[in-house]
Amino acid sequence: MAQIAITQFNDLSLVRQGKVRDIFDTGEALLMVTTDRLSAFDVVLPDLIPDKGKVLNQISVFWFKKMESIVKNHIITTNVNEYPDEFKPHKDILDKRSMLVKKADPLPIECIVRGYITGSGWSSYKKEGQVCGIRLPAGLKESDKLMEPLFTPSTKAEVGDHDINISFDETINLIGRTRAQELKDLSLEIYKKGAEYAFSKGIIIADTKFEFGLLDGKIILIDEILTPDSSRFWPLNDYEPGRGQNSFDKQYVRDWLIASGWDKKHPGPKLPQDVIDRTSNTYKEIYTRLTGENV
Ligand SMILES: Nc1ncnc2c1ncn2[C@@H]1O[C@H](COP(=O)(O)OP(=O)(O)OP(=O)(O)O)[C@@H](O)[C@H]1O
Ligand SMILES: [Mg+2]
Repeated sequence: MAQIAITQFNDLSLVRQGKVRDIFDTGEALLMVTTDRLSAFDVVLPDLIPDKGKVLNQISVFWFKKMESIVKNHIITTNVNEYPDEFKPHKDILDKRSMLVKKADPLPIECIVRGYITGSGWSSYKKEGQVCGIRLPAGLKESDKLMEPLFTPSTKAEVGDHDINISFDETINLIGRTRAQELKDLSLEIYKKGAEYAFSKGIIIADTKFEFGLLDGKIILIDEILTPDSSRFWPLNDYEPGRGQNSFDKQYVRDWLIASGWDKKHPGPKLPQDVIDRTSNTYKEIYTRLTGENV
C-alpha cells in the first residue's frame, strides 16, 4: 500500500506545502498532490492514513465533474499519462492522488457556506443571536439545520492565523459588487446541490469552504471541493440536534487524542495501529458512499 508523506521529487519545483497537499509549479500549470498526512486540532500528526490522499483527491474530482453545469473548474487532467514529462517517472505515486490544474488568480475570499449551526457559528449565535452579522431566529439548538444555508465569507489570514470573517459589504469592497454576488450565488448553489446529494448517501455536509479564481477574466472553481478536509462531514445515522456531532472522518482520531491527554500542541502523538486502520477505512467508506466506487 503506497503511503506518502511528502512528495520528494528533487528535480521538480515544490511551490507550496499545506497541511495535507504539496503543490508543484510546472510552468504552464500546477500539479496538486494530496498526501496521506492527517491534521487534527490544526496540527499535522506524525502518522499517515493509508489512501487518505487518494480519497480526498478523488472526492474533489467527483464533485468538480458533478458541478460542471454550475461552474467551470481548474482541472486540466487527472490522467498521469498526460502529465508533463518530468512527472512521468513518479506516475505510480501520483496516480489517483493528484490533478494537473490551470493556474488561476485566486480571489482573496474564502467562500464559506453553513447549512447547520455548529462550531464558531454556534458560539457566536449563543452569545449574540447572530452568525457573521446575520441574525437568526431565537431558539435554535446546537447542530440544527438552518432554514436556508448562509454565505459567510472570510479573508485568508497569514499562514498560521485563523481566517477573519467579513461581512458581505466588506466582500464587495474587496472584489466588487458583481463578483461578490457571483461568488455568493455560486457557493450557495454548489453547496445545496452537494449537500442534497450527500444526504441521500447518509452524509450530512454541515458546512464547507470554496475557493474561486479568475482565469481569462472568468470565475472558476479552484482548490478542493466538498471534501472532509474543507467541510464538516457528519454521519446522518447518528445526527441529533442539541449537541455537537461526531465527525464522519476524524472521530476515532479525535476521541483517541482527547483521551490521550495531548495538549493539542505540536508535535502530535503517534496513533495506535487500530485507530489508523479504522480511520483509513472510514475515508474509503465515505468515498464509496458518495461515488458508489471503491478507491
Ligand atoms: N488552480 C489554482 N490556481 C492558483 N492557486 C490555486 C489553485 N488551486 C488552489 N490554489 C491555491 O493553492 C493553495 C492550496 O494550499 P493548501 O490548501 O494546500 O494549503 P493551505 O490552504 O495554505 O493550508 P491548509 O493545509 O490549511 O489547507 C491555496 O492558497 C489556494 O488558493
Ligand atoms: Mg487549503
